[in-house]
Amino acid sequence: VFRASGLTTLPSILLIGPSGSGKTSLLTLFERRTQPAQTHTSQSPISVECDLPVGTTANSDKYRSVNDPTNLVHKRFLLIDTPGHGKLRHHALDTLTNPQNLRGIIFLVDSATLSASDEGLRQTADYLHDVLLTLQKRTESSSKAAKNLKEIPLLIAANKMDLFTALPAALVKSSLEAEISKVRVSRSKGLLDSGIGMEDEEKDEWLGEVGSKEFKFTQMEEFDVLIEVVGGNVSGGEGPVTEKWWKWISERL
Ligand code: GTP
Ligand code: MG
Repeated sequence: VFRASGLTTLPSILLIGPSGSGKTSLLTLFERRTQPAQTHTSQSPISVECDLPVGTTANSDKYRSVNDPTNLVHKRFLLIDTPGHGKLRHHALDTLTNPQNLRGIIFLVDSATLSASDEGLRQTADYLHDVLLTLQKRTESSSKAAKNLKEIPLLIAANKMDLFTALPAALVKSSLEAEISKVRVSRSKGLLDSGIGMEDEEKDEWLGEVGSKEFKFTQMEEFDVLIEVVGGNVSGGEGPVTEKWWKWISERL
């Protein structure tokens, strides 16, 4: 929910990902700094203004002298949380097709639900596939704002690393790549495997490199979508571990 006018001109970071991955927890943690609040499954987007923490420098400020007084004013940005439930994902996808000063996307995943037999892996890969395809096709979308988005940095934040069942970030990455490879084939109705050439229409719906057997996140660079996978946790363990996520955000502001 956007409040008074003017707010939408702040640089914004969009939080997306499946239900239960910890998006609203992350939002409350970044807003309050100390610990996340109790959450309920989200039914609508919310956005809050956040400041970069002391000690992190926004990319746009990195050439300022340490004595420059503007360094004391923390860089503000808008963090936008969206519901992860399958029926409410149009909120997130709308923001992607009509972005307001969007600087980056954080796709949050629950790293403890991504092992091979877990239903969470398929659901997460399905959603990520759709998000990436929307970004890949943004040049044909009607909104000018979407067309103007040049490079889109996307952070896959591998959350809940405090849980012993969590996969390490490198495995989160390879598991998602492998599962997206499967999603891609099933969406293309298996035409690729049958040896019949792809029609242009199907190529438009194919994520990443046409003709590749395995999907890799690096294939999205062709479409100026730059993907990184970084682990952390919002709660649990010995407190939050989010420094690397903050650093990623600071480099986008
Ligand atoms: P939707 O609103 O349904 O899309 O879910 P969400 O992504 O906003 O998830 P939410 O923030 O509500 O968190 C879901 C549950 O995960 C809550 O019980 C959180 O306390 C828990 N949780 C979030 N982050 C962590 C974490 O890093 N570690 C652990 N152990 N639990 C976490
Ligand atoms: Mg939520």
